[in-house]
Amino acid sequence: MGFEATLTDAQRMVLGMVRDFCKQEVAPLAAETDRGKFPAETLKKMGRLGLMGLPIPEKYGGAGAGMVAFALATEEVAAACPSTSGIFAAHTSLVCEPLYLFGSEHQKEMYLRPLASGEKLGCFALTEPEVGSDAAAISTAARRAGDHWRVDGAKRFITNGKEADLCLLFAVTDKSRGHKGVSAFIADVESPGFEKGRSEEKLGLGGSSAAELRFEGMELPLDNLLGEEGQGFEVAMKTLDSGRIIVCAQATGFARACLEASVDYARERETFGKPIASYQPIQWKIADMATGVEAARLLYLKAARLYQAGKPFTAEAAMAKVFASDLAQKTASEAVQIHGGNGFMREYPVERYYRAAKVTQIYEGTNEILRQVIAKQLLK
Ligand code: CAA
Repeated sequence: MGFEATLTDAQRMVLGMVRDFCKQEVAPLAAETDRGKFPAETLKKMGRLGLMGLPIPEKYGGAGAGMVAFALATEEVAAACPSTSGIFAAHTSLVCEPLYLFGSEHQKEMYLRPLASGEKLGCFALTEPEVGSDAAAISTAARRAGDHWRVDGAKRFITNGKEADLCLLFAVTDKSRGHKGVSAFIADVESPGFEKGRSEEKLGLGGSSAAELRFEGMELPLDNLLGEEGQGFEVAMKTLDSGRIIVCAQATGFARACLEASVDYARERETFGKPIASYQPIQWKIADMATGVEAARLLYLKAARLYQAGKPFTAEAAMAKVFASDLAQKTASEAVQIHGGNGFMREYPVERYYRAAKVTQIYEGTNEILRQVIAKQLLK
């Protein structure tokens, strides 16, 4: 509702282009993708349009459009297809962005360029079978062995893990140093000892994988360390900070899609001889949904603008993600309610967002952890 007026010409151009693309290429495949079909062709097309490296400078194969445009694009893709938005967000915000921020020139040329151009797909491997929220407690270990790193351990629930070509991997290089003993690595999935395990069946986002990865004596070249040895926790935290802006945009997209579907349905569906849109309980639900979507979008735009200005944004990103994901969950539930029995059926799209919305309260930091992050920023 008029927020476009606050955007630059370049951001409006990206938004228009992504909207058209989503309408024509992404939304029509959403149901099939949700049933488990990985959207490989769509991702290739997104790569050709420059979307897979949207915030990454052109010098490294991206589109140089910045974080605001990336977040706007994420909202559009999410509104069109939850699974595709999950794949896109994990690849671009959790892999391309840290490679750009922490990679050497050689690493950017060798690994970031094919990722940003959409030629290759990336995954972010932090979570382990026994470790989620307490990220510093990971046990996957890397040690120097002659002219390479030797990595042993396992990761779990890794978005894009099944299809990825490159993996941003976190491992402990010095157990005695706690979070300062965690390091980040770039691993080619073809590295000897890199094994892909099973992908989980999930409540939502059925077209994206959540795979197990195993490393058994995996060998990585010494210069595949990303940043400094012991800098991995910082790499993970900074990546997740900006990732949370993108999860907010994704959740905003889910909520918006539910709002739009509910408005259409309420105008068409009649009970007691009148469209349900004429009843106040429905009107109030729609009003609350629309207000929430506007507020969520303002939160991610604020955090993205702070990011682009090089200002602190940790609390703002966490607030944005908490607010939008709670909103998406509630809005999707209300949308199903407005649709009545139809809302419970696969034939209507709202149940897809209802199932997808839940994960935005969980991944990239549960909302409980993020409320701690917000409080810590305020009270420190
Ligand atoms: N940026 C930079 N540094 C940060 C930071 C940030 N946002 N947050 C913390 N740090 C630094 C601190 O400054 C501190 O450094 P020093 O010791 O040098 O001062 C260090 O990290 C430890 O900080 P804390 O004491 O605050 O650490 P903590 O253990 O109390 O809390 C945490 C850390 C916030 C809980 C963190 O572990 C966290 O964010 N956990 C959630 C993990 C997560 O989001 N996982 C998502 C998995 S990936 C995923 O979901 C992807 C997907 O599938 C799509």
